[in-house]
Amino acid sequence: MWSDEIIKGAGLGLRTSFIEEVYDYQLKPNWFEVAPENWIKKGGYLKKLFEKIRQDFPIVCHGLSLSIGSPDPLNFSFLKELKDFLDYYEIKVYSEHLSFSYFNGSNTYDLLPLPFTVEMADHIIEKVKIVQDFLGRQIALENASIYLILEKEMEEHEFIKYIVENAGCKLLLDVNNVYVNSVNHGFDPYQFIDKINPDWIEYYHIAGHDRVEENLIIDTHGQEVIDDVYNLMEYTLKKLGSKPVLLERDNNIPPYNELLQEYKKVKNLVEKHEKQII
Ligand SMILES: [Fe+2]
Repeated sequence: MWSDEIIKGAGLGLRTSFIEEVYDYQLKPNWFEVAPENWIKKGGYLKKLFEKIRQDFPIVCHGLSLSIGSPDPLNFSFLKELKDFLDYYEIKVYSEHLSFSYFNGSNTYDLLPLPFTVEMADHIIEKVKIVQDFLGRQIALENASIYLILEKEMEEHEFIKYIVENAGCKLLLDVNNVYVNSVNHGFDPYQFIDKINPDWIEYYHIAGHDRVEENLIIDTHGQEVIDDVYNLMEYTLKKLGSKPVLLERDNNIPPYNELLQEYKKVKNLVEKHEKQII
């Protein structure tokens, strides 16, 4: 009943803080994004609520613990749980971060930056192919917000191109992350968008951030989206084409009716440009 669903319009990251309120308002998100790690082991009342949401809304999964750039081997017991979850709920879209978080078996609980080298890109390509094969799905990788540039044999957009084209995966393009990196590392975010191939894109992320200094932004997902990021999102929709957009809000989450007001702004923007669907 879920397998042929279409993700279109604007989505919202599903949080336990407001899951009980989703049906209380006339305005409902077109779809939800969930972190599978937060729901795989859930039981009882929350699981029932999740299953009701799954019944009524399209869902995509955005993972937290794949750690694709890590030197550690892939965790196949996690991948098995993930595959069972995706298969059971008939979730087609699964994305992860172009970063790493595990090292020597320890979780750093952070999305750490990767060196933009051929060696790292090849390492990721090999792992993505194994993951896609195991899950029986094409996955998407998200461009990261980066605070420290490590070794760099190529530019970030070249690193993304190399991986996406050779691994046969998709890109989850986070427009806020492009903006954050452009301020922190001093480049033109519009020129970055111009270098992205529309064919790579699964969907977009938009989010708020904290500007702590003139040239330093921390990607908190804890504030409202600023106008500069909306403008970059609008440019991206025009330049790269309409795809679904997900509003991320992970911290400092306002009351649900307030979050819906921001969601509505994103939805209006997407619908203005919506011409095609995934
Ligand atoms: Fe994101």
